[in-house]
Amino acid sequence: MEAVFDVPSSILFGAGARLRLGAELRKLGVSRALLVTDQRLRDAGTIASFGIEATIFSDVQPDPTDQNVAAGLECLRGANAEAIVAIGGGSVIDAAKIIGVAAMNPQPLSAFQGYHKIPNRGLPLIAIPTTAGTGSEATKAAVITDTARLVKMMILDAKILPRIAIVDYELSLTMPAELTAHVGVDTLAHGIEAYVSKKANGMTDPLAISCIQLTSRYLLTAQKEPGNRGAREAMALAACQGGMAFSNSSVCLVHGMSRPIGAIFHLPHGLSNAVLLPAVTRFSIPGAPERYADIGRHMGLGDSEALVEGLERLNAELGIPKLRDAVRTDRSTFESHLKKMADDALASGSPQNNPVVPTADEIVDLYRSAW
Ligand SMILES: [Fe+2]
Repeated sequence: MEAVFDVPSSILFGAGARLRLGAELRKLGVSRALLVTDQRLRDAGTIASFGIEATIFSDVQPDPTDQNVAAGLECLRGANAEAIVAIGGGSVIDAAKIIGVAAMNPQPLSAFQGYHKIPNRGLPLIAIPTTAGTGSEATKAAVITDTARLVKMMILDAKILPRIAIVDYELSLTMPAELTAHVGVDTLAHGIEAYVSKKANGMTDPLAISCIQLTSRYLLTAQKEPGNRGAREAMALAACQGGMAFSNSSVCLVHGMSRPIGAIFHLPHGLSNAVLLPAVTRFSIPGAPERYADIGRHMGLGDSEALVEGLERLNAELGIPKLRDAVRTDRSTFESHLKKMADDALASGSPQNNPVVPTADEIVDLYRSAW
């Protein structure tokens, strides 16, 4: 099977890499940039520490929406910006990607939903993650909520790839424990799904395995010892590798099912993946038993059944709640959404890459077992 491997032109990696931002902008010949971030990083002084002159747009919410993109586009046009710098987590980087695309393409954002639907390349983007992480700095994917349809649109196209990624783990040293856990399990899910995906290939496999190994070795330490530089560096590396892997392989059923949870119940992306990961793994093992056995071995867990138990134990040790405790809703409300959630999960295309392709009814059952 033929495969394509798209990654940023440059990835600057290591402590202090963020200090290269000004030089990278000059190399691109950019004099006016729009800096996309969120209010928390702006208030914390993180943005000021870069010492860059740029128009700042910080109205990006977790799970960014089409409205965030529209506001960012207006800001970009007002500033006459030639490039975008994104400093933040996955939400900020995803929003920045689509702001850049919207600047070069007049269509409504819904026209870009799915695979390779974007006519023109977005503005040059430098992505600097502050969490480890979604890996968004290295991916050609973005997820934006369509507020009218209440759908998290998955947009995948090489035309949204950041030109440059600057991965400096020192930016993640101050991440709160809960966020560290959520995005860390997201990273693990990227590695696992990239490795078991029907689109896994020889370029993505080594990155996926490294992502899985690093996350299983260092995530708990990064959460328990926030200032542990070795653990933070390992997780930054894992996140970036996981991003490159899944962006060129695919995410599968966990991500397909987690987006509707996020869209309807507003759970953070990593948390909605985490609550699904053990049950979806158990369901999917029969479709790729050898691949899952590899994963179990690389996590030091042994066979596939031990892998599921290991994932449950990891969730418990990280303090990840069950779905029923994470959503602020009752069982009957949850039940009333399941049909649409299953349909939206299937419509995203991700479950079709899963080792076992589920029916809508099976997806409903999996949501129930995660409850
Ligand atoms: Fe993810």
